[in-house]
Amino acid sequence: MKLADRVALITGAGSGIGRGSALLFAKEGARIAVVDMDEQSAAETARMITQAGGIATAIRADLAIPDDAQRMVEATIGRLGAIDILYNNAATEGPICFAAQITLEQFDYVMNVNLRGTWLAMKYALPIMMERRRGSILNVSSLAGLRATPGGAAYCASKFAVIGLTQAIAIEYGKYNIRANCIIPGWIETPMVHRLFGPALPESSVTAAPLRRIGQPEDVARAALFLVSDDADYVTGTIFTVDGGINAGDRGP
Ligand SMILES: NC(=O)c1ccc[n+]([C@@H]2O[C@H](COP(=O)([O-])OP(=O)(O)OC[C@H]3O[C@@H](n4cnc5c(N)ncnc54)[C@H](O)[C@@H]3O)[C@@H](O)[C@H]2O)c1
Repeated sequence: MKLADRVALITGAGSGIGRGSALLFAKEGARIAVVDMDEQSAAETARMITQAGGIATAIRADLAIPDDAQRMVEATIGRLGAIDILYNNAATEGPICFAAQITLEQFDYVMNVNLRGTWLAMKYALPIMMERRRGSILNVSSLAGLRATPGGAAYCASKFAVIGLTQAIAIEYGKYNIRANCIIPGWIETPMVHRLFGPALPESSVTAAPLRRIGQPEDVARAALFLVSDDADYVTGTIFTVDGGINAGDRGP
């Protein structure tokens, strides 16, 4: 098992990519702090893990609230004894409109969840990792963090910033044996994508990818497992796309 004796705190683990990753990490031996602002979905992921023979605890925390970020780290230490892996996956897609139409409240909320929440989780987990001279951080950006798309300026800005933040942590904390990497999902079939497009996904979500299919949460989970495990113990500061090849360029006919 690739994560035996590890404790992983995963935010947004009540749904989509976070849930898929929590289930896989647990199968690989990690004890999981399942964090989500939606208490019921966090409890459901934890139940799925324990039912499959794993160890998990559900923690309700809203990453937009600084005290919650601190509390989720403390609760993880209190209940599971450590944090070896911090997987900052929770995010909000924000408003779909052009930049001048975004309200102050909407812009702040997207930044507070996607960027500040990611930073706060690291702020509180890093001292614990430094003490133990061991830690692996995985932050979730997006293709929108590499290239702008119209209609999602706040989300796009937050996801660009997550990459810079991750790389800053990688260079500052490498000497403490703490790694920090960024994963970039392409189109992944989750509730977030259905909120954006409705129940029927557009043909382009399949055809945009050279591999000609939409991704599943398990596709991201398997790449995430590699990045947080010792298999990647010389990998830090990297930007790892899991996008069916979309970022490589325009697909052929
Ligand atoms: N699905 C995609 O195509 C796609 C593409 C690129 C990037 N991403 C990124 O992947 C990550 C996971 O997305 P997903 O598609 O699984 O989304 P999702 O909406 O299915 O799951 C996100 C989870 O995060 C939780 N969450 C949202 N705001 C929170 C907050 N303030 N505090 C705590 N929890 C909060 C939600 O309750 C939900 O359970 C996100 O960072 C997203 O930006 C997704």
